Amino acid sequence: MSHLSKVMRDRAEALIGVYPEKRSALIPLCHLVQEQDGYLSEEGMIEVAEMTGVTPAEVRGTATFYDMLHTEPVGKYVVGVCTNIACLLAGGLELLEHAEGKLGIRCGATTPDGTFTLEEAECLADCDVAPCVQVNHRYVRTTTPELLDGLIDELSAGGRSDEIPPHGTLIRIQRSQGLTVDPAAIAAERAAAREAAQGRAAKVGES
Ligand code: FES
Repeated sequence: MSHLSKVMRDRAEALIGVYPEKRSALIPLCHLVQEQDGYLSEEGMIEVAEMTGVTPAEVRGTATFYDMLHTEPVGKYVVGVCTNIACLLAGGLELLEHAEGKLGIRCGATTPDGTFTLEEAECLADCDVAPCVQVNHRYVRTTTPELLDGLIDELSAGGRSDEIPPHGTLIRIQRSQGLTVDPAAIAAERAAAREAAQGRAAKVGES
């Protein structure tokens, strides 16, 4: 039985269809699982492995390389405070410590009610608005303790849901066109890629 919902499974199959090799869809599929479960669950990783023709260990090995993929449950809101050089000079570390106090947790932990996870982030490419803070990978531009407190209070009260969806949702607007590929064209593309790879292997064998 599929761990992914029907909608997610359909989206996953459509994504696989646009890559020459199934395994190339591994990371996009991990994001789909994360969108459904809030993190990359064990069952989700097994299903991604089955769908892409790799082992669950390969899925886990890939996922643990990327900061945006969480293999353990996280809060509804993942708050990332950058402490890289530009943000460090602008008070990023102090802001992170302030966030720990406000949320009552240490960096890396999740509040007991499962609402917030706090993370220390590397450069988030928003150095000119330092110290940079993101919530679920959205820039929130809360550069002072007061602004950060206000944001956390607002999120706790259920505000900003139009701007910041629960963790795992990368985008809420689904593509309605442009990803439809003729299955015969995909099969031909894959066959050509296989043939080219066999040709290269044969040349290496001859030399
Ligand atoms: S150093 Fe913090 S966003 Fe670049």
